Amino acid sequence: MRRAPYSSASTLMFDRGWNVDDKGPSIWDTFCHEGGRLVFEGQSGDVTCNSYELWEEDLRCIRQLGLTHYRLSLSWSRLLPEGITRHVNQKGLRYYNKVINDLVASDVLPMVTLYHFDLPQALQDQGGWKSPEIAAIFDSYARFCFESFGDRVKLWITLNEPYVCAKLGHEDGIFAPGVKEPGMAAYLVGHNMLRGHARAWHSYNVLYRAKQGGSVSLAINSDWAEPLDPASPDDTAATERYLAFTLGWFAWPLFVTGDYPEVMRSSIEVRSKELGYQEGSRLPRFSKDEPSLLGTADFFALNYYTSRRVKPGECCPGVLGLKSDQDAEGVVDPSWPVCGVSWLAVVPDGLRKLLKYIKDTFNNPAVYITENGFSQVGPVDMEDVQRCGFYHDIIQEIARALREDGVDVRGYFAWSLLDNFEWADGFSVRFGLFHVDFSRPERPRTAYRSGREYAGIISKYRSQTMVNI
Ligand code: GAL
Repeated sequence: MRRAPYSSASTLMFDRGWNVDDKGPSIWDTFCHEGGRLVFEGQSGDVTCNSYELWEEDLRCIRQLGLTHYRLSLSWSRLLPEGITRHVNQKGLRYYNKVINDLVASDVLPMVTLYHFDLPQALQDQGGWKSPEIAAIFDSYARFCFESFGDRVKLWITLNEPYVCAKLGHEDGIFAPGVKEPGMAAYLVGHNMLRGHARAWHSYNVLYRAKQGGSVSLAINSDWAEPLDPASPDDTAATERYLAFTLGWFAWPLFVTGDYPEVMRSSIEVRSKELGYQEGSRLPRFSKDEPSLLGTADFFALNYYTSRRVKPGECCPGVLGLKSDQDAEGVVDPSWPVCGVSWLAVVPDGLRKLLKYIKDTFNNPAVYITENGFSQVGPVDMEDVQRCGFYHDIIQEIARALREDGVDVRGYFAWSLLDNFEWADGFSVRFGLFHVDFSRPERPRTAYRSGREYAGIISKYRSQTMVNI
């Protein structure tokens, strides 16, 4: 009998007192403070939900929803202020130990993410993810976390969305560290993130798996994509490139070949040739002397938000950049409703299609949907019926993927438990199942209607799948 998906929610643990109790600054602190104009209304993440002081409030919310699992992200620079194990912030360590102990005592299994966009600034000053040394430094941070928490944590994510770190942080420059080096830095950053992930997975495998018995993966974000015109070979080829440059970029090395998708490499090399770049100078090659990537994911961790219909790009060939390499443009179907932010077209059945694609392409892995959600912008609507409908629909689609398509779905994490600091969108975009009043020092949390309904949906669904499968 296949186990039913656990339905749970996640939020981020990096906020509050960006500099209290010996926490070191991260690249997001710097980005907000120095590049304030890049974040909505110059807001910062200095104090967001204040989970650092209000953790017990979060736990109350988790229990109120009846969650079985909770995904949280550690702040590297709260644990290791300079990014390296020579200097440990004991108060940070105590804090995360309490969080994990409280979850376990409440029968909620923690899924812990080691890295969620917030590199210690001290490491950025040494080159950050562009530097080859970062892979070994990440590995020693990962070992420190396995050693400190692995007796209780059995589900690990090394890196959250390397695509977003690479593209938004190093190509577009709209996320920290704000680097804009189109067509160059993103590939290097993605490469070093993969190298860091592989080392951490191998460390877990050799040093901790036997005694701790957990699983380790990397959270990959991807849209579902299908041809704008299914009868058009050009649209079909563009769709293949679209998926190769998002999902494939990080999933192929882990699940298929140990290397990037062939179509991604060849598209980049064609463009490189046109622009006079040497072969292999933009998308690096993996060295045979390093730990291999193939097989370094114990499950497939998928962050899914939206879908696109795809046609060839309109970018001029002479331009250096990911967009021009990828040569594919995703458009929103007019029938899809867009919620809150402009990129978020709501397409629940896109998740089912993507899950089926993952099953067929990556040899039927166990899948956790590690992020998925629906946002609100503008005046707060506590009676958010649209979001309620969305959660009904998405859970339905997962049930179909499980029952009708035979996808091995193990869990679902809604993004997010609480409204929080949405990166460059600041506090203007709200994904929470609980509303947070950011204007008050106590940051009160109040369940939206969708939070209350979510609790009902997941408990009903959990018992149904147990009976039916
Ligand atoms: C993901 C990210 C989350 C949250 C979410 C919604 O890319 O991991 O932290 O920002 O998108 O936009």
